[in-house]
Amino acid sequence: AAEGDPKITELQDWNRYLGPGVDAAPYGLPSEFEKDVVRRDVPWLTADATSSVNFTPLHALDGIITPNGLCFERHHGGVAEIPPQDHRLMINGLVDRPMVFTMEDLYRFPRENRVYFLECAANTGMEWRGAQLNGCQYTHGMVHCVMYTGTPLRNLLNEAGLKSSGKWLLAEGADASAMTRSIPMEKALDDCLVAWKMNGEALRSEQGYPVRLVVPGWEGNMWVKWLRRLEVGDQPWEQREETSKYTDLLADGKARKFTFQMEVKSVITAPSPQAPVTHGKGRTVITGLAWSGNGTIRRVDVSLDGGRNWHAARIDPQSFPKAVHRFYYDFDWDGSELLLQSRAMDEKGFVQPTKEALRKVRGANSIYHNNGIQTWHLKTDGALENVEVS
Ligand code: MTE
Ligand code: CO
Repeated sequence: AAEGDPKITELQDWNRYLGPGVDAAPYGLPSEFEKDVVRRDVPWLTADATSSVNFTPLHALDGIITPNGLCFERHHGGVAEIPPQDHRLMINGLVDRPMVFTMEDLYRFPRENRVYFLECAANTGMEWRGAQLNGCQYTHGMVHCVMYTGTPLRNLLNEAGLKSSGKWLLAEGADASAMTRSIPMEKALDDCLVAWKMNGEALRSEQGYPVRLVVPGWEGNMWVKWLRRLEVGDQPWEQREETSKYTDLLADGKARKFTFQMEVKSVITAPSPQAPVTHGKGRTVITGLAWSGNGTIRRVDVSLDGGRNWHAARIDPQSFPKAVHRFYYDFDWDGSELLLQSRAMDEKGFVQPTKEALRKVRGANSIYHNNGIQTWHLKTDGALENVEVS
């Protein structure tokens, strides 16, 4: 260019003056230019903020790890603030030795680090009957993916000594909602963790400080936060959260229950309604997330024409079983209207269904376990809208 770019030729303030010194922010925060990247709620969704949910800003994130301050929150009785020295974890029921652990006791068990997604069973629930919320933060933001540090749950159960009649475990939270869920013993002894760190630092209060249960690949409701009690029993307890909630009313009036596993799912996170295309036609990056409670994601396809033609997306190799996978599809946008979709297949061969196919099997009454294919309508001006195609 003949004229120099003033952003280069003119001295800028940040180049002319010294910046703040170290310790200006003892706990670092994002750049002020990123202040819109926050959890957000949908005000009309719940009557009260203490039994409510907010959503991870998926449209603004990349990679597979959710930053701690952006992990969506779902709690039924507000956030419990528990001094770690006052917290106790009790194991009772069908065990040889009922036990009480302090946090100090827990820290002395052998530790493991694992990366897992947590998805609320209600994620995408508002989209069952048709396209509703305009943004993947709202349609798909009840998921986060974190590296947990903790001890395998089996270590604590073995310490207490399981009786052979012990087939189920009740996990109970110390918060005002005293959340309780029944978990089959095979799962408890398999890959569950009792975790106290997320992404290297202590759990955030919102996520269950000082200790939460991690139930890989299974619905978020079972990941009891502020974990205070584990009871061993010989049958499920039929608590509120596994009878009136977290069950799926089918068209014939019967309800599915104990639908623990989260099925294969994906979504394009950008471009999406909150992340429009601002650069016009030409080189364009489509990116999104795919995950499955079955393990790894084998394949993700992207469609530009509402599911008529599919193109293999590139799955970033940095991932783990039962963690989100990051995919990319790079293409030249000709500036025409597109219907963007993604469709994932997991390691067991399960393929994400269309919403139509899902409703055919489950009817229209459901809220939970909507893993249907999402469509974004990309318009010529780069704006996007949540739509459904048939
Ligand atoms: N544990 C307790 N004690 N109380 C709760 O309200 N909510 C559950 C689960 N564990 C809940 C809880 C639900 S429904 C979900 S989806 C996850 O926690 C949400 O975890 P997060 O807030 O870390 O995203
Ligand atoms: Co939930």
